[in-house]
Amino acid sequence: MKINIVQSASGKANASALFFVKKSVQFSDVLSENAEKQVESVLNGMEDGPFEDLEYLEIDNQPTIFVDAAKERGLSALDHLRMAAYRLAKKASKRQIPMVSIMLADAAPEQFKSILHGLSYADYKFDAYKSKQKSAFQVTFEIVAGEQASEFKKIAKDVAVEQKAIVLAKNLINTSSSDLTPAEFVENANTIAKYTPGLSIKVRNMKQLEKEGFMGLVTVGKGSSHEPFMITLSYDGTKSARGTKTKDANARSSSDHLVLVGKGLTFDTGGLCLKPPKSMPEMISDMSGAATVLAAIQAIATLELPIKVSAVCCLAENAIGNKSVLPGDIFKAKNGKTVMVDNTDAEGRLVLSDGLAEAGLIGATHIVDIATLTGAMVRALGYAVAGFFSNDDDLGLKVINCGEACCEKFWSMPLEEEYADALKGNFADLKNTGSDAGAIAAALFLQEFVPENTAWAHWDIAGTAFVSKSWKYTEFGATGFGVQTLIELAREMSA
Ligand code: BES
Ligand code: ZN
Ligand code: ZN
Repeated sequence: MKINIVQSASGKANASALFFVKKSVQFSDVLSENAEKQVESVLNGMEDGPFEDLEYLEIDNQPTIFVDAAKERGLSALDHLRMAAYRLAKKASKRQIPMVSIMLADAAPEQFKSILHGLSYADYKFDAYKSKQKSAFQVTFEIVAGEQASEFKKIAKDVAVEQKAIVLAKNLINTSSSDLTPAEFVENANTIAKYTPGLSIKVRNMKQLEKEGFMGLVTVGKGSSHEPFMITLSYDGTKSARGTKTKDANARSSSDHLVLVGKGLTFDTGGLCLKPPKSMPEMISDMSGAATVLAAIQAIATLELPIKVSAVCCLAENAIGNKSVLPGDIFKAKNGKTVMVDNTDAEGRLVLSDGLAEAGLIGATHIVDIATLTGAMVRALGYAVAGFFSNDDDLGLKVINCGEACCEKFWSMPLEEEYADALKGNFADLKNTGSDAGAIAAALFLQEFVPENTAWAHWDIAGTAFVSKSWKYTEFGATGFGVQTLIELAREMSA
């Protein structure tokens, strides 16, 4: 896929298909008078309903794709635009249309951004394991932007950075677990840190984790032949010439330090509390949180946002081995609290206790942890909405707003104190299972490890990270959910 942003259409002869976002149409640029009339009647027809939301017609001997971008399907107007652009790109590629003009001179910047994201999503494929790689027909999209061409070009650069991060997260998540062990994940992170200016990396292996008392990771990871790791990536856009806005003399220097903590179970068998076969294959995606924070910080550093951000990836494999943690075992977490492992399948919260501790050690003022944490969350909100919990109303509101701007839906869940007692241990301070309200129990457990005086939000993306049937712009597999909202949050906090 190629995208050219131009001021005015390169002419009817070049445009083999046209895509109109309603109310953003300059027919006369590209169509004859006769064709213009036909287009008007098609658009009117779409309004009255006889057309599908995507129509392919010959107008004036010119292939023309109509997308009714105004139809709602529980999606926001911006998300519908993304869907429309996604479907357009798929259709154009299938029909082998070499060039499509998109008339956007009077589109708002956020509409343009949505369309670009939608087109880009259509370009994703994960065929690393296919014996034959099919190459899709390459379509060139000409965005007719009028006066806004130079502004749109800037936006397109940001979208490219965001999409690169989304693709990175999706590729990591879709890779099978024997090929993406904790050590392989570390390799990937090292490469990213090496090629992203301003991004530094610290890696702790099993021995170092044990020595420093990060026992959640050790407890979960010791049953596997692949040792656990903790990665801490750091970027400071407030300090140096990095951070575009700090180059400006009026820039505000903030003391905020946003730390993103990701659950990185490269596979979750459930451990000795083994998962049933049906729910196991999807556990290749149990490192989605770690992939999401890695991808987000790569983008944040590349965009040079003027904010201090770190990302902590808690990597382990929850496997069965002769050293696996036994139900009933007790360990001491980094913050000194003791935990009895009631269920070895509730392992995410154990590794995250270390990620939260690390966030505190490196001076977080704000923490967002992101994890495929509970099946209960999937049952509560399904695959379209992520649940979030927060101890800070301001951060919570930002999550909702940033999510909305990125077409990612979040629903606020309660940190219900009445269920906190259920997490009390008999011999230990805590146990890793609690109330039947499973997603809340997990969040309350995490709260026990949040450093004092720190704004914290926990995102449970168990439902939204990976889909087994087509959803929005993902056919099967990783959705990349959360990457954009994290980037947007960093943008919002640095504004
Ligand atoms: N990784 C799972 C949660 C999950 C379920 C993610 C479905 C994606 C899709 C997590 O480690 C887990 O197994 N949680 C248990 C906790 C329970 C034993 C308290 C669960 O939710 O069943
Ligand atoms: Zn589990
Ligand atoms: Zn898990």
